[in-house]
Amino acid sequence: MSDLLAVVLAAGKGTRMKSTLPKVLHRIGGKPMVQQVLDAATKAGAKRSVVVVGFGGESVEATLGAQAEYVVQAEQLGTGHAVMQVSSLLQDFDGTVMVLYGDTPLLRGETLAKLFAEHQRSKASATVLTACVIDPTGYGRVIRDDSGQVLKIVEQKDADSQERAINEINTGIYCFERVALLEALSKITCNNIQGEYYLTDVIGILAQSEVKVRAVQVEDYEETLGINSRVQLADAEKILRRRKLVDLMDHGVTIMDIDSTFIDAEVCIGPDTIIYPFTWIEGQTTIGSNCEIGPSSRIQNSSIGDQTTVHFSYAHDCQIGNRVTVGPYVHLRPNTCLADGVKVGNFVEVKNSQVGTGSKIPHLSYIGDTDMGAGVNIGSGTITVNYDGKHKHRTTLEDGVFIGCNTNLVAPVTVGKGAYVAAGSTITKDVPSEALGVARARQSNIDGWVTKK
Ligand code: UD1
Ligand code: CA
Repeated sequence: MSDLLAVVLAAGKGTRMKSTLPKVLHRIGGKPMVQQVLDAATKAGAKRSVVVVGFGGESVEATLGAQAEYVVQAEQLGTGHAVMQVSSLLQDFDGTVMVLYGDTPLLRGETLAKLFAEHQRSKASATVLTACVIDPTGYGRVIRDDSGQVLKIVEQKDADSQERAINEINTGIYCFERVALLEALSKITCNNIQGEYYLTDVIGILAQSEVKVRAVQVEDYEETLGINSRVQLADAEKILRRRKLVDLMDHGVTIMDIDSTFIDAEVCIGPDTIIYPFTWIEGQTTIGSNCEIGPSSRIQNSSIGDQTTVHFSYAHDCQIGNRVTVGPYVHLRPNTCLADGVKVGNFVEVKNSQVGTGSKIPHLSYIGDTDMGAGVNIGSGTITVNYDGKHKHRTTLEDGVFIGCNTNLVAPVTVGKGAYVAAGSTITKDVPSEALGVARARQSNIDGWVTKK
């Protein structure tokens, strides 16, 4: 197999987005659209990627970082001109150059892999990915001879009426042999209606050489659609989203309502897990099997074990074990780790805390900066007082601790193994293990107070 290098054209401004952000950095499926293209190229086997940038090039480079090389096309003089900017980088490369656009985030890696495989199999100098469409308006048309051999590509604006009637279009995705590409690029001119250097002219030039040009038709034309406006971005988001949901369902996940479920591409979910409506699962999130997630929940960059339920809750940057119950109305903030069998909710916030096996925080509590052992029971309305106005302090609750309702735990403080804290206490000193900590005013009753007042 020869080496594959991807060239991603992303110099266009994307005027119709009406944005200060370069078009290719607009997010779709949880990633900048150009990232989706790079990922597809990598899946197809590209070992190196070069992004041709223009408008907002610095932010494209800052966002994508070291995964690609960058070449600036200062003036957008056409797709051929854009690829010419990469010529010097290609001098020492011996292999296949795949040209792609940075605004086609629906492309599948499998489709590019097929194009590359066919290109190698046929030993063509160039292979173009084409599509047969009902309305070809605006696209370059693929012109073939009587035997079906590709002769050239003619742009809509340069096409005569006979050529315009052709419904096989150029998707703008190609594989080229490096030597053939550079040689043909040196021959193209801007003698056309738009005064641009067309990459498509390379196809016409190579078609006249001895090593022929091939065309591969894409199975699903939708994959090659470019994004030019926010409406198209939203439409494409829907397509990507559905694709992910279908994949999950094919692997045994139940999605109750496709229209109100949002799951990022990288998310993994085990079989027999049910996702209820109005649920977002984002970033690097892993969920086990036999879970119930949602309704109305948002989970970001978290891992969840098996048989866990999360109802009406928000969790980010957390680890949640097996058979855990979360919600309703729980906020799990970063660095929260819930061990197996934990119960959290209703109306509970947990931050930067470890909660040991089988511990329960069932109602109306704030647990922050806490190390909680196993089998701890937290009464309703318990607050860890973790912040003194300057610093955060930790609370330690050892195994089997019982905290009565409406307790304040003023950190730093430790409640020892098996100890109890009486309801309504404000605990400022450590409670030894097996002891009862009581810290509240004694009750006195004033007889006949109502009639005397
Ligand atoms: C191009 C093809 C056309 C094909 C269509 C598919 C040419 C001449 N025509 O037309 O055959 O049917 O794509 O969508 O190639 N770009 C640069 N620098 C430039 C010009 C373009 O980076 O100087 C980038 C753009 O940002 C864009 C992509 O290349 O992502 C395509 O450019 P665009 O002007 O949209 O090409 P089309 O005219 O649509
Ligand atoms: Ca276009």
